[in-house]
Amino acid sequence: MTDDVVGTFDEAAGTYDRVGVDFFGPFGAALARRAGPRPGERVLDVGCGRGAVLFPVARAVAPGGHVTATDGAPSMVDLTRAEAARLGLDHVTVEVGDAQAPAYPAGSFDLVTAGLVVFLLPDPHAALRAYARVLRPGGRLALSTFGPQDPHFSAAMRALAQHLPPGGGPPPKPDDMFASAEATTAALTAAGFGGVTHTDHSTVSRFRDEEHWLAWCWSHGARALLSRIPPDGLPAATADAFPEIRGARTDDGDLAITTAIRVHVATVAG
Ligand SMILES: C[S@@+](CC[C@H](N)C(=O)[O-])C[C@H]1O[C@@H](n2cnc3c(N)ncnc32)[C@H](O)[C@@H]1O
Repeated sequence: MTDDVVGTFDEAAGTYDRVGVDFFGPFGAALARRAGPRPGERVLDVGCGRGAVLFPVARAVAPGGHVTATDGAPSMVDLTRAEAARLGLDHVTVEVGDAQAPAYPAGSFDLVTAGLVVFLLPDPHAALRAYARVLRPGGRLALSTFGPQDPHFSAAMRALAQHLPPGGGPPPKPDDMFASAEATTAALTAAGFGGVTHTDHSTVSRFRDEEHWLAWCWSHGARALLSRIPPDGLPAATADAFPEIRGARTDDGDLAITTAIRVHVATVAG
């Protein structure tokens, strides 16, 4: 597993998707809708986080279905398992697992869902092949990736990144299977999938002020960038980022950014 990435999410788990901002919830619901889970189906949700995909899918497969949700971050797993128990979802199992190499027998699932996770993996092609293996013939994969980012958010991230120590940025990715719909279709086809469809979704996220925005950044993947800035440089970094995010202020005083995702759905040949 990618320790840096998983470690970041493990630290973020307590506040991930819990800072009063619409973001992962609407995106998870969109992925679940596109995946089309049906009563009785067996589903694997990889990189489940706090359950943005898992919970709508779990409701849709009842009665008779089952969802196995996995995440590499033990804190995400503990919190999501507790939430499933609180909701009385006894057809949901939440366990630690590698999103790139799910350890289940071939043909175990009717549907695999992967919300905003595959692009984080060291070898996303290997992950797609692994999903084809654990799906039954004719089973479906539904996964999501980020589309264009809000220009105010991107500018604020660039302002923060100026404060990274030399060489502190993320390593370059060798190839990007999500650079275009064609590239994603080619990757899915090479992994044994067909019937690929792509749909675009966007959501507006609102923040009371810059501090609320910053708390949200610490609660998800942007935490990786913030944590690489030396602590004594953080005040200057946020002082540079805040004017950029203030550009997203609306007439009612909130800050509002729009984020796009793309959902890909495909079927295992056979
Ligand atoms: C951006 S979050 C998405 C969570 C959830 N699917 C959602 O839509 O809110 C990515 C999740 O993938 C998990 N993750 C990242 N790399 C992983 C890996 N190699 N194996 C398992 N989980 C991983 C992280 O711990 C995190 O919970």
